[in-house]
Amino acid sequence: MSELHERHRRVLPSWLPLYYADPLELVSGSGSRVTDAEGHSYLDFFCGILTSMLGYDVPEVREAVERQLGTGIVHTSTLYLIRHQVELAEKLARLSGIENAKVFFTNSGTEANETALMIATAARRSNQVLALRNSYHGHSFGVIAITGNGAWKSTPLAPFSVHYLHGTDRYLSAFASLSEAEYQAACVQDLRHVLSTATAGDVACLIAEPVQGVGGFTMPPDGLLGEYAAVLRGSGALFIADEVQTGWGRTGEHFWGFQAHGTVPDMITFAKGLGNGMAIGGVIARGDLMDGLPGYGISTFGGNPLSTAAGNATLDYVLSHDLQRNAAELGSMIIGGLREAAGPLAVAGEVRGKGLMFAVDLVDPQTGAPSPALATRMLEATRERGLLIGKGGLYGHALRMAPPMTLSEADAKEGLGILADALRAVNEEAAK
Ligand SMILES: Cc1ncc(COP(=O)(O)O)c(C=O)c1O
Repeated sequence: MSELHERHRRVLPSWLPLYYADPLELVSGSGSRVTDAEGHSYLDFFCGILTSMLGYDVPEVREAVERQLGTGIVHTSTLYLIRHQVELAEKLARLSGIENAKVFFTNSGTEANETALMIATAARRSNQVLALRNSYHGHSFGVIAITGNGAWKSTPLAPFSVHYLHGTDRYLSAFASLSEAEYQAACVQDLRHVLSTATAGDVACLIAEPVQGVGGFTMPPDGLLGEYAAVLRGSGALFIADEVQTGWGRTGEHFWGFQAHGTVPDMITFAKGLGNGMAIGGVIARGDLMDGLPGYGISTFGGNPLSTAAGNATLDYVLSHDLQRNAAELGSMIIGGLREAAGPLAVAGEVRGKGLMFAVDLVDPQTGAPSPALATRMLEATRERGLLIGKGGLYGHALRMAPPMTLSEADAKEGLGILADALRAVNEEAAK
């Protein structure tokens, strides 16, 4: 064990997972590549969990941060006007499609979801929340209560009464033989049943990720979240789209993940990629909902001059370089290539994804059961070949890939080649 790894284990929580048997320390980065403390270079297809979404050392973002640092002001608090914050809120409100939208900035996705849940439960005078099975919305007392993935449940205690809906569990034997339309109808019927039999009426909201991140890039059929929202609106319940992983055009087909579902949510939560590494998150909500929260509220660091300078520069870059189109084009090329490579391999299960957000399940070649052990092996096999990827899924068996949205075609092909080669090697090992 390296000296730094040993020190890490002594002073950091045991529940803070580290990738790789010999964990990596990344010390520099440029474009789509990072370098570790031993000088090895890697193509990065995970970007600090989708957070360095433009890649590394992007001059436009670095210079925006340096300009702000040059003023001598890193922090003022929201007791004073912050120009970058107002400008970023204006852009986000416009892009959201939400009527009379207002924005509250936080430092993380967790705080964003906490705020959205607070707004919804206050507006509805109800603590009844609906979430999807296999969901992940962050790590705090409130959002752990709406986590539909047992591996991430840090406490059974909860401020909400929660019911979980179907939508990303089509693989279960009860649903496996259904067509997509039949599955969707069964999900909506289940929602109506839950509303009329399991809740005490007056549900506050549904919160859902359009593509589940920690869940292994599993996703409901297109349109389902819109159908859910329509049913819920009949009773006044709200819909919160958690766009922490799916926003900014990463799915290629749309700017926001919810746009695949034919609805506009009442609230959007965001974080991760917007600051290209600087800590930023927030909620975009209908103005009446946002303003309806009783009492004062601040987030001391939320929307600070530095993070909103980075946020503006990152968002402007995404829009002016049409990175959504890059995500659509290179994403479909990689997903197609991955399907072709995975097809004949017994260790490879489902390949899925949208744009530059794609996954492949690792399964036991004999039984077809999810194999977290083979997924872990794949992490090592890709690292050995110079590629960083992520892991997730309800059983820890899904490989998750989310390259920078600035990815070049050459880097896309290189990454795909490594993934295919590593899959073949792990398949061969598993057959022995
Ligand atoms: C969909 C989703 N929501 C919320 C969060 C929590 O964000 P943070 O870790 O910034 O608190 C995450 C983090 O992975 C996420 O994937």
